[in-house]
Amino acid sequence: MTDTSEQNQVLIFDTTLRDGEQSPGATMSHEEKLEIAALLDEMGVDIIEAGFPIASDGDFEAVSQIAAQSKHSVICGLARASTNDIDRCWEAVKHAAKPRIHTFIGTSPLHRDITALTQDEMIAKIQTTVSHARNLCGDVQWSPMDATRTEHDYLCRVVETAIKAGATTINIPDTVGYTAPRESAELIRMLLERVPGADEIIFATHCHNDLGMATANALAAVEAGARQIECTINGLGERAGNTALEEVVMALKVRNDIMPYQTGIDTTKIMHLSRRVSQVSGFPVQFNKAVVGKNAFLHESGIHQDGVLKNVQTFEIMRPEDIGLFAKNIALGKHSGRAALRAKLAELGFELGDNQLKDVFVRFKALADRKKEVYDEDLVALVASSAGTGGDDHLKVSKLRVVCGTEGPQEAELTLEIDGTPATIDATGGGPVDAVFNAIKMLYPHGAKLDLYQVQAVTEGTDAQATVSVRLTLDGRVYSGQSADIDTVVASAKAYVNALNRLHAGQGRTSNAALMQSAGES
Ligand code: KIV
Ligand code: ZN
Repeated sequence: MTDTSEQNQVLIFDTTLRDGEQSPGATMSHEEKLEIAALLDEMGVDIIEAGFPIASDGDFEAVSQIAAQSKHSVICGLARASTNDIDRCWEAVKHAAKPRIHTFIGTSPLHRDITALTQDEMIAKIQTTVSHARNLCGDVQWSPMDATRTEHDYLCRVVETAIKAGATTINIPDTVGYTAPRESAELIRMLLERVPGADEIIFATHCHNDLGMATANALAAVEAGARQIECTINGLGERAGNTALEEVVMALKVRNDIMPYQTGIDTTKIMHLSRRVSQVSGFPVQFNKAVVGKNAFLHESGIHQDGVLKNVQTFEIMRPEDIGLFAKNIALGKHSGRAALRAKLAELGFELGDNQLKDVFVRFKALADRKKEVYDEDLVALVASSAGTGGDDHLKVSKLRVVCGTEGPQEAELTLEIDGTPATIDATGGGPVDAVFNAIKMLYPHGAKLDLYQVQAVTEGTDAQATVSVRLTLDGRVYSGQSADIDTVVASAKAYVNALNRLHAGQGRTSNAALMQSAGES
């Protein structure tokens, strides 16, 4: 069991790879999940919920490998209240130095209706499944899903049952983001007062953000005695998402005077994780998002700019460096060499192997020739678009010309290298990107459906790079691609081709719809 012997130590449980990955449309490949888990481990996250092992073979493999690679964090897998689920979960997490099984059942009247269990039948199920989990693993977390809409007397009964059956952490989920700070605190206080054995386990808080109160609800629960916060990077998660890790951790750091609780998080890793999760999940961070949004440290009005120049604390309550955000200086120039690039990337949190560094260096030189100023964000985008490409890619964009403007139809002349052999075609479409995508499909026919096409400017200015994300689905598998370029249409073509290369290599992941279906069938 994880130690909170320091009364004021709050454990950080990150569920980006489980609840976060359940966000409609979020996708992460197997390699990306391993990378994010390694970064979370390095950042000092106490518990990583790495996935839902019974949901698919892909999830099982990801949890097993994360368990095997983790150095410090407890590695947790999710399981429904069934011995099959729990056994499968244990098979995946048992490779970890510190494994945890997290099992749950919906306890509110609405959820009891769905499972068609009486209150007593559900108690019996909790008793059997939690003790089964505890016989396999010394660290068992149990959650009454939809706790905040469960009758208080019944909530006390189910929590008491789970504790008696061996649960070491009791998580209280606000599954539908329904609670408010005062109620969130009162619920934890009530459980601590009324449930026998409550002082021997750790209470966790798991808040969804449907009313925008997830972070406030989590902090209120901590003030009432919860000692584990469940959260995700960038607040990723079902519907409106979860408590954001960066928000609770920075709130506890900045307002330690009124909330004297500590976490073991190295906050300087926050910005890098936020950027990587945004890139790999295809979920951009909203500009005005607390802590990690692009505007979080920007000052527009004259009064604010003047104040900040005189004393930064006038309008800033935390230092950008505290979250690993360094001054937006010009990163490198076109005369900079490979060593300077490597050092700059290391400062930004990227340790690249020789091959990837070589690729990023070539891209950097090309960019520096075309763009006046190369910022840190440009380098981050270059790394992201190089990550999904390899020298042995099946498809490569070799030449592209488009005709666009007020008179349609727009046209694209595209040359693709398919296994090194060039093929050229002309296509038209309802816009330049549509014309390019039509051309790609004519040269490389496939049955995948385009689910998402998203463009984001990396920096300001008309010469800014655009990062394009594309998501394709075929037979219940998701293939995502990304690319960045000053030319948005070129970035679009490369992102599409990047996704097709993944499709060709079979590097997709099970779609959420297919995942939920297989979980339901098991
Ligand atoms: O929101 C929720 O209730 C959950 C549970 C599985 C803990 O994510
Ligand atoms: Zn949740």
